[in-house]
Amino acid sequence: MKRLLILSGAGVSAESGIKTFRDSDGLWENYPVEDVACIEAWYRNPSLVLQFYNERRAQLEHAKPNKAHLIIASLEKHFEVCVVTQNIDNLHERAGSSHVIHLHGESTKVRPENTPANGKGVIDIGYKAIHLGDTDEHGIQLRPHIVWFGEEVPMMTQAIEEVEKADIMLIIGTSLAVYPAAGLIHYAKPGTKIFLIDPKPIHVSGIHITQIQKVATEGMQEFQKLMMDEDFFEK
Ligand code: APR
Repeated sequence: MKRLLILSGAGVSAESGIKTFRDSDGLWENYPVEDVACIEAWYRNPSLVLQFYNERRAQLEHAKPNKAHLIIASLEKHFEVCVVTQNIDNLHERAGSSHVIHLHGESTKVRPENTPANGKGVIDIGYKAIHLGDTDEHGIQLRPHIVWFGEEVPMMTQAIEEVEKADIMLIIGTSLAVYPAAGLIHYAKPGTKIFLIDPKPIHVSGIHITQIQKVATEGMQEFQKLMMDEDFFEK
């Protein structure tokens, strides 16, 4: 089986009702990044940070995977699929994807605040809220299991290895504005066919990319047709 690497961002979940970050009315317009998504914010006002992620979790409980997530999962019948996602939601898993790497953490998990993202003590809390004073068994305050701006991205090593092995790469629903995730594309081996689905034109210099300029659900249907075309891999 050929290896298909999918790098996804907020846009893949937009049609499930989850806001992107940088579109107009995106999350960062309503909550400044520096107030909720960096370690300084956690030290300054942990209650606000917890509230922000409690809201994300509560919203996720009522969201459903959309057709794009479902097609991505169904491609496992024909390809060795690895999804590298910047999203903290669990919609890829709920759609049935079995190999998902979360670069920026997961909103349904928390960990003791003194533990690194790849450390021990990660707890799956589902869609529950957490508050100041909620601790692990050693009395350490719990924090969202999220990679905030300025923190290390431990899952990058594994993500790079997966990108290097890919025969086809699909980038979907990401502005490619945030590093190191945006740099993953540069690890694709020469000859890898690279596609990008986004309703806005996304420019990547120095790399040939076929853009399908559509929303995720429509773009994935087009991509799926292309992948099922037996002649495609001969061209
Ligand atoms: N289908 C596909 N793409 C869409 C859709 C849609 N229905 N709606 C919007 N988009 C596209 C936008 O055009 C944009 O290019 O999704 C992209 C979303 O970009 P961002 O909001 O920047 O989200 P993302 O790239 O995932 O952000 C990366 O930044 O703030 C951090 O940690 C956060 O993981 C996030 C990272």
